Amino acid sequence: MNAPNQSGWKPTTPAAGEGKFGGPATTTGNKALMLEEPLIFEIADNQTTGVDLPEVDTSATTRLGGMARDADIGLPGLAEPEAIRHYTRLSRQNYGIDLGFFPLGSCTMKHNPRLNEKVARMPGFADVHPLQPVDTVRGALGVINELAHWLIKLTGMHGVAMSPKAGAHGELCGILCIRAALEARGDAREVVLVPESAHGTNPATAAFAGYRVEGIPANADGRVDLEALKARLGPDVAAVMITNPNTCGLFEPDMRAISDAVHAAGGFVYCDGANFNAIVGRVRPGDLGVDAMHINLHKTFSTPHGGGGPGSGPVVLSEALSPFGPLPYTARTKDGVVHLVEEEGADAFAKEHFGGPLSHFGRMTAFHGQMGMFTRALTYMLSHGADGLKQVAEDAVLNANYILRSMEDVLYAPYAPSGPCMHEALFGDKDFADGLSTMDLAKGMIDEGYHPMTMYFPLVVHGAMLVEPTETESKATIDQFITAFRSVVERAKAGDQTLATAPHYAPRSRMDETQAARKPLLAYTDPE
Ligand SMILES: Cc1ncc(COP(=O)(O)O)c(C=O)c1O
Repeated sequence: MNAPNQSGWKPTTPAAGEGKFGGPATTTGNKALMLEEPLIFEIADNQTTGVDLPEVDTSATTRLGGMARDADIGLPGLAEPEAIRHYTRLSRQNYGIDLGFFPLGSCTMKHNPRLNEKVARMPGFADVHPLQPVDTVRGALGVINELAHWLIKLTGMHGVAMSPKAGAHGELCGILCIRAALEARGDAREVVLVPESAHGTNPATAAFAGYRVEGIPANADGRVDLEALKARLGPDVAAVMITNPNTCGLFEPDMRAISDAVHAAGGFVYCDGANFNAIVGRVRPGDLGVDAMHINLHKTFSTPHGGGGPGSGPVVLSEALSPFGPLPYTARTKDGVVHLVEEEGADAFAKEHFGGPLSHFGRMTAFHGQMGMFTRALTYMLSHGADGLKQVAEDAVLNANYILRSMEDVLYAPYAPSGPCMHEALFGDKDFADGLSTMDLAKGMIDEGYHPMTMYFPLVVHGAMLVEPTETESKATIDQFITAFRSVVERAKAGDQTLATAPHYAPRSRMDETQAARKPLLAYTDPE
């Protein structure tokens, strides 16, 4: 049985002889308002222009000499409304959180409250320039300091470097601090331990910083195997990088024991805090012995996903690592006040408050960080308050568990027997009919009008499907998703081969994903 999709229409399996997308054939190849959009070169001709330009006086002399163009360059010509319609139609083929439910696990496709946008666009924030005299940007610095204060408080850490531009950049910052701390005590260690369920950026960061990466296995419950970790610790281990909650969507209950063991062996604990959205307001990583942790502002504090644009990944540091943070750095003073440390005065600050000379390893970026993201994140914090942030975590966990428990009777959920999940629910493809895979299920979800969940990650579960609903979705939205998800799972288990060629209703059907990613054809060639 097919469930209605988000826009209310009921998809049917296309039968032989029907139009391209199922249903009766149309002259355009479009179904209802699903637009088939050609390339701009295909809808245009080079005789039309959107503006009336005066005839070019070709007799005029040009300073370009032999370099002057003497032939048409073949730009597509369209009337202005045609050009606008083309790009507007293309923009509507882009799926986003403002268009529908977006259950992409590990990525936390969080709603971006419009209040954040309003505040970020206030000229006093939006128009500041990093090279303005300090006296003219006191307010902006105040925002950075207040946000730093919140981050330090919520994580129970000693200080925070606000400048890293993304989660992975924050990881690099944290690992460089650890290296600086080890070097300061003349202890050159070579290895960083990373659990096998880790996000790919963790081993990449450690390797980029010059460390040898070794894996730590997961136990049957999807958590770090504590005994295996303890057995590997030794004088060559610089740090352990652990994601908590981990990428199986599970809390690491042995975190304190892990930190104690790593510290006893002379190493540091890096926590990948990308999933802090599941525990904010409830757990302070500082209490678990963490030395460094990045926070993806977009995942916990609702700033927009960068899309390659300006992200922000502040890194909180323990007291042991604070003297090694990059400048500018925000640290607690001896009296517990949050203070922005810049080059000028840094030595004196270090002597007074860290009890030793300045050991900062340098800078991560030229300036203080992403003002637009800081403004949005602080707006989110202030509009929720500490209790509201705690509820954000609780609702995110509740929604994920609702999906887990609504699916576990039809879909393999490897860690469901060991208890609740955190902010994301993990499934595997164990009972699918021969020839059908997680990929086919994901394509079937597109026909239902949903962006698929994260697929084939984490690697510890075969055919993994990681579903993260986030906290803002209503029960009605989640129920509708569950209905569609269950229906596609049942088709995959029953061997419904129409899934193998899904999506049937999308403007583009099944692609060769490897070719599309590795050898995209980005230049238009006129077929004639
Ligand atoms: C667990 C985890 N670690 C690290 C990252 C990297 O963060 P970024 O994409 O901001 O570099 C992500 C990204 O989603 C993540 O999910």
